[in-house]
Amino acid sequence: MNWNIWIRQFHRWLSIIFTAVVVAIFITLGVGVAPAYWVYLMPLIPLALLMLSGLYLFALPYAMRWRSGGRTA
Ligand code: HEM
Repeated sequence: MNWNIWIRQFHRWLSIIFTAVVVAIFITLGVGVAPAYWVYLMPLIPLALLMLSGLYLFALPYAMRWRSGGRTA
């Protein structure tokens, strides 16, 4: 699998994991259970990875243009 496609898939599935963790925290709060402090920090792990892979995805079209000498649209 192409490296860029792999990063995009990684970003996509990580977004689901991140969303699931945030939703789970809201559900526990909704049923009146206050989770431990470290549970609130848990979404930061996928969020940090989302930021890194997202910045990579952002830079991709510019890197492609730069590598081809500005010839692509
Ligand atoms: C934290 C910083 C983030 C950055 C810098 C970032 C950046 C990006 C970029 C540049 C793209 C590619 C857009 C394109 O050219 O098509 C993208 C796609 C996407 N992002 Fe993020 N993102 C971030 C966080 C998130 C979060 C928090 C979520 C959802 C919980 C998310 C979900 C997605 C999804 C589902 C896609 C489409 C992936 C695909 O094409 O299969 N991202 N993001």
